[in-house]
Amino acid sequence: MNDIDAIMRIAPVIPVLTVADAAQARPLAEALVSGGLPVLEVTLRTPAALDVITEMATVDGAIVGAGTVLNEGDLNAVLSAGARFIVSPGLTEPLARAAIARRAPFLPGVATAGDIMRGLDLGLNRFKFFPAEAAGGRSALQALAAPFTQCRFCPTGGISAETAPAWLALDAVLCVGGSWLTPKGPLDFTAVRQQASLARALRP
Ligand code: 3PG
Repeated sequence: MNDIDAIMRIAPVIPVLTVADAAQARPLAEALVSGGLPVLEVTLRTPAALDVITEMATVDGAIVGAGTVLNEGDLNAVLSAGARFIVSPGLTEPLARAAIARRAPFLPGVATAGDIMRGLDLGLNRFKFFPAEAAGGRSALQALAAPFTQCRFCPTGGISAETAPAWLALDAVLCVGGSWLTPKGPLDFTAVRQQASLARALRP
């Protein structure tokens, strides 16, 4: 599955996971996968992130990617850790060229028409729309997507269980990302699994 489009179509929601304690990696991934969300984005925002990716990648059915990938050094580190796709908050040419050279499915963040056009120049047409709510919400994405009929998006940033259905109803949206499945504080894996099941049901 070396194709970001295919990964985006697996489930309606990609949980965005910032995990400080690698001991939580396995039970968290198992809760999300068993709830119906196999595609997981682990952000590089904690010292434990690479260990979390490696551990989650061994969970049956999990398709684990890395988020907050900022440069080629991050890219090499997360691929070595076992990441199967790469997400970045923005689009830079050095990272995009490195991801393409490594054949890593890549979902760069965009928020403007210029971002999208730079992505198209690099051969990319699947993007994270980030930060989705702060960048103007659904009306902004609809307007932005209109000239770029070949592009599809994963809006992320400020999306909740309540607003996800309206985002998923947009033609240009293949899936949404969000951290709402793992609220800050001690994790309740039963609650995470229930939230995952509700999220999975957002697209039949
Ligand atoms: C991300 O890195 O994609 C976002 O921080 C996730 O956004 P959220 O926490 O608002 O869901």
